[in-house]
Amino acid sequence: MDGPSGSGKSSASRGVARALGLRYLDTGAMYRAITWWMLRQGVDLGDPSAIAARSGEPALSSGTDPDNPTIHVDGVDVAGPIRSQEVTGAVSLVAAVPEVRARLVSLQREIIGSGDIVVEGRDIGSAVAPSAEVKVYLTASAEARAARRTAELSGTTVEAQQAAMARRDTLDSTRTTSPLSMADGAIELDTTSLNLEEVIHAVLSLVKERAH
Ligand code: DC
Repeated sequence: MDGPSGSGKSSASRGVARALGLRYLDTGAMYRAITWWMLRQGVDLGDPSAIAARSGEPALSSGTDPDNPTIHVDGVDVAGPIRSQEVTGAVSLVAAVPEVRARLVSLQREIIGSGDIVVEGRDIGSAVAPSAEVKVYLTASAEARAARRTAELSGTTVEAQQAAMARRDTLDSTRTTSPLSMADGAIELDTTSLNLEEVIHAVLSLVKERAH
């Protein structure tokens, strides 16, 4: 499941995994976790070579239970801190570094290789698992995406969120390594006017049609 922020990927992916009795992997949490570590280490995030040089150091571990997805860095539970504004504002810089992507993609493939799973991200269908049985690209209007993010956060406005998300989406779609894009063979699902149950239902129908 790929798509930009606020498209409803996380809730939909978890719901689909639950309904199908599958594991679930949030790859964005992995990029956020390595960003959290870089910030804590004082790595200069304006310098891609500094990020690249340290990218192999932290031990990352992702739990794949859709009812309780976990993320640890060097044994520390970072599920809370990776959602901070500091990490959210910095993650695009770290996610653009090829050495970071190579390391995380390889960890993701290891997890995917051990059995059926629902994986959410920006490059899953195009780069991480191009032979996935079902590829879904979730979209929603910029207004709907900003409104959803605003409802999840406190102390922000729809306008501020829309501007911040536009900036992040531009960075994510224009980077050289694996930019956010729709994969070959992906089915686009516009969630603007759908509630969560409807999105999950639509994805489950696609799975029924496509998976064998
Ligand atoms: O989905 P999210 O907001 O938690 O993603 C955090 C950041 O990580 C976002 O800026 C894009 C990046 N990302 C990525 O480059 N590739 C992925 N597979 C997942 C996320």
